[in-house]
Amino acid sequence: MTLETLPDRRRGPRRALAPTEFDHPSSEFGPRPILVLNNVTKTYPNGRNALKDVDLVVPEGDFVFLVGPSGAGKSTLMKLLIRDEVATEGTVMLDGDDLAKLPRRRIPRVRRKVGIVFQDFKLLPTKTVRENIAFALEVTGTSRRMIRPAVERVMALVGLTGQAAQYPHQLSGGEMQRTAIARALVHDPRIVIADEPTGNLDPLISWEIIQLLLRINELGTTVLMATHDADVVTALRKRVVALEDGHVMRDELGGGYHRRG
Ligand SMILES: Nc1ncnc2c1ncn2[C@@H]1O[C@H](COP(=O)(O)OP(=O)(O)OP(=O)(O)O)[C@@H](O)[C@H]1O
Ligand SMILES: [Mg+2]
Repeated sequence: MTLETLPDRRRGPRRALAPTEFDHPSSEFGPRPILVLNNVTKTYPNGRNALKDVDLVVPEGDFVFLVGPSGAGKSTLMKLLIRDEVATEGTVMLDGDDLAKLPRRRIPRVRRKVGIVFQDFKLLPTKTVRENIAFALEVTGTSRRMIRPAVERVMALVGLTGQAAQYPHQLSGGEMQRTAIARALVHDPRIVIADEPTGNLDPLISWEIIQLLLRINELGTTVLMATHDADVVTALRKRVVALEDGHVMRDELGGGYHRRG
């Protein structure tokens, strides 16, 4: 099996569209947004204002770099998307759902639309590669019959079939991150958010991880990646959203890490 076994979303949405203003057929208005932040402010209980009036629309299939200095609000923005945090003001719409208004019972289903990858991998040390990936499905009550083929598919996809029985301490950094990416993909998410996924990796291995995320994106999964890696951002000329002190300071296609001029 290869990367080509990922469901190809470029053929269009696979489910009926919900009747909201954010859901429209891609043919008329361009790709439908998977993510819409409208006037989002996040103030933590200690009074710290981490996001201020953030507007952001991410069409399905986009690849977006989220950049900005330490403390700018990148991780906070990502936490809103998995409903780890809730916006203090404004709305966060994910695939047509307003995350603040979501009934508790619907949270798990919406969370499964997002695959998340962290800088420090967050693998379970007592579980093998295969078990780490499978665990993400076990906790959602997926049947054993469904788990096995799904896990084998994503392991093949990230090129880890040969390491399936190894524990995290027996893996290289790049292999740990590929395991984490496989785990993020096993639910077949609509969007993958990666919070500094190459922050603990050397430059060569970082490029491998970026190439993998680009392939996943080419197959139609939206990718939002926070990074401090200026070389990668500048070389790839993707969409760049720059946060500074909680504000969106720049949002440009084909941007570099640093502001032009
Ligand atoms: N749970 C929290 N409670 C209070 N303040 C917080 C909390 N989490 C983050 N902050 C503050 O919010 C601001 C934004 O933090 P955030 O982690 O989003 O930044 P970041 O852009 O991801 O930075 P880095 O590049 O260092 O990861 C910072 O000033 C931080 O101290
Ligand atoms: Mg961060």
